[in-house]
This record gives sequence, C-alpha cells and structure tokens, in this order.
Amino acid sequence: MKTYKLAIVPGDGIGPEVVREGLKVLDAAAAKFGFKTERKSFDFGGERYLKTGAVLSDAEVKSLKAFDAIYLGAVGHPDVKPGILEKGILLKLRFDLEQYINLRPVKLYDNVPTPIKNKGPQEIDYVVVRENSGDMYMGLGGITDKGTANEVATQVMYYSRLQVERCLKYAFEYTMKRHANSPWKGLSAEDIKAGYIGKWTLCGKSNVLTNVFDLWDRVMKELSASYPKVKLDYVHVDAMCIFLIEAPERFDVITTTNMFGDIITDLAAVTQGGMGVAPSGNLNPAGVSMFEPVHGSAPQFTGKGVANPLAAILTVKLMLEHLKEEKAAQAVDAAVQKTMLKMKSMLIGQMGYSTSQIGDMIVAAL
Ligand code: IPM
Ligand code: MG
Repeated sequence: MKTYKLAIVPGDGIGPEVVREGLKVLDAAAAKFGFKTERKSFDFGGERYLKTGAVLSDAEVKSLKAFDAIYLGAVGHPDVKPGILEKGILLKLRFDLEQYINLRPVKLYDNVPTPIKNKGPQEIDYVVVRENSGDMYMGLGGITDKGTANEVATQVMYYSRLQVERCLKYAFEYTMKRHANSPWKGLSAEDIKAGYIGKWTLCGKSNVLTNVFDLWDRVMKELSASYPKVKLDYVHVDAMCIFLIEAPERFDVITTTNMFGDIITDLAAVTQGGMGVAPSGNLNPAGVSMFEPVHGSAPQFTGKGVANPLAAILTVKLMLEHLKEEKAAQAVDAAVQKTMLKMKSMLIGQMGYSTSQIGDMIVAAL
C-alpha cells in the first residue's frame, strides 16, 4: 500500500481546527482509496514564537524536505508584530523550499452564493497560477536616511529569466493537463477548429512596468511555440479587476506575478464564495510542496467551532491531486459539493453547522 509522509503545520487561530477536519477527510479518503499517510506535526506559529522566540530555523526547513507534502492551516497572531510570522514562516517556507508556483483554483460550486449578479458556476471556473518566488516579495531594497527628510524606501520588482521561464512553463503544462480530456468550454467553434484546447491569460502591467513585462512577454512567446494548443491572451492587472467581476467566463488559466497574484486572488476568492472555500497549493514540481487554505488565522473566532473547514478540505483535494491520488481528489470534490448543498452559507458562523459537523458530513458523503 502506498504511504505518503506528510508534515502537518496546524499553525495559529482557526488553523488547528480546520486542519483537524481536513485530516479527518484525508483519513476517510485513504481508507476508501487504499493508501496510507504517515504524519508528523510541527508547532511553527505565533504561539511558539511568543513562548520561545523561535520563528523557523534553517534546520527545521531542511527537515521538511523529507516529506511528500506539507499541509498548513494558518499562521498569524494578534500579539505578534505584522511581518514577523508572515516573512519568518510562510514566506520562508515558500522561498527556501523553492515553491515557485502558487496555484489558486477559483471555482464557484452549486449553492454557494457569489456577490456577482447574474454569474454562476458556469461562469466562474478558472485557475490562477501565481508566481511565488520573485517580485517585491524578495524584499530587495531598503531604507536609506531613515527618519530624515531625505528618507527613501525601496522594494524592487525583481524577475529573472529563470523565474519567469519555470513559471510560464508550468502554466502551459497545467493548461494542457487541465484540458487533456476535453477542451475548455469557453473556446469558440473557430478556436476549436484551429486546434486550441485551452487558454491562458497573462495578467500584467505592460504599459507601465515595461522592463518586467517585456521579459514576461518574450518568454511567453518563446515558449508558446511548443504549446500550439494553448490560446494566449493578455490583460492588464487593473482591467483584470473589472473582468473578474464583469466577465469571469473569459478566463481559463490566468498567470501573473507574485504581487498582482496576491491581490487578484483575494478578489477572485470573494467571487467564489469567500475565504471559507478558497484553497491553494505552493508547488515545487521537483521538490516538496505545501498546501494551505488562502484564509488567515482569524484569531477572534478561534476554538468557537464556527470556521468553515471547506477551504482546508479543498486544500486536501489539491494535495491529493499533487500526490497523484486523482480518484480520491475527485471524490473529495464531489463530497464537498454535496455538503455545500445542505449548508446555509459559506461564511464564518453562518453555515448552519459547526466546523466539525461539516467535516463529518464530508466523511459521510465520501
Ligand atoms: C497569501 C497571503 C500571504 C502573501 C501573506 C500572509 C504573506 O496574503 O497567501 O496570499 O502575501 O502571499
Ligand atoms: Mg494574500
């Protein structure tokens, strides 16, 4: 029997309670589909930092390389200054483990309310491939003449060809895989005739950030020669904020830079029903990947049993896909959809069920 070694980082706030439900579902899927998991828990997070001063050491990061995947709840603590845990744990993991893709599927399920009028599950079903290693997130720059009238603060938008190439290559491959069995429904008859099976949209700001997007554009065109079945599209990031609301059906796979990806995926998450249902994967296709719900630790709701575990459970689905347990992933997805039909809302505290009841319902549906 296949056994996967998983590192579990429950983290802070509602992290542990949503991870508990995710693992419940994982265990049910393992029993049903014939695989095993061997798990080790790590206490990285705000609580440990406040007690011991430890954030995350290089040795700890290194020890994670022995696992098949990492499953993380949320890190963030109201008593810790902003930046310490985000940079010291979350971003350090993403960077040091070279998880250069942040995969954020945006899918509206049946019975999930969206704030967009006249749009439904037919229209909202795309994936954002957010570059996860470069950009202002690298923290290049600094502050000079601090505290004086001449003070200057910089944080540079940095992209190397290597960073762009590996991200765009992943995006092309992902688009091909997404439509290996049937072409994307948004393609026109002419597109299909021309041999396209999917589309990917580069989201940038080529009218202002002329250096960075010159590089992205050139690499996109170079690589596209090897992927003639993928239709290319380009949208400026500001216009993206219009289209994600007015015409989400325009999108299949969107690829963008780290900072823009951070911003547009929060907007996108709202259209799919909010943070209660948005999953993500930080991927290193050649190393160890980390799966986390998009939401944060929501400290004010800790331990009340009101958090929606579906984002964490859909994150398990992404992890199963990554582990190539496709059937289990599909079954989890179907169980989530079935459970959503019974819920009053996806919002924290308004679901009509407690956090653990929802986990139980998914298990029963499985
Ligand atoms: C996210 C978060 C993180 C980010 C923060 C917490 C560092 O907003 O995962 O989108 O900016 O990437
Ligand atoms: Mg974010």
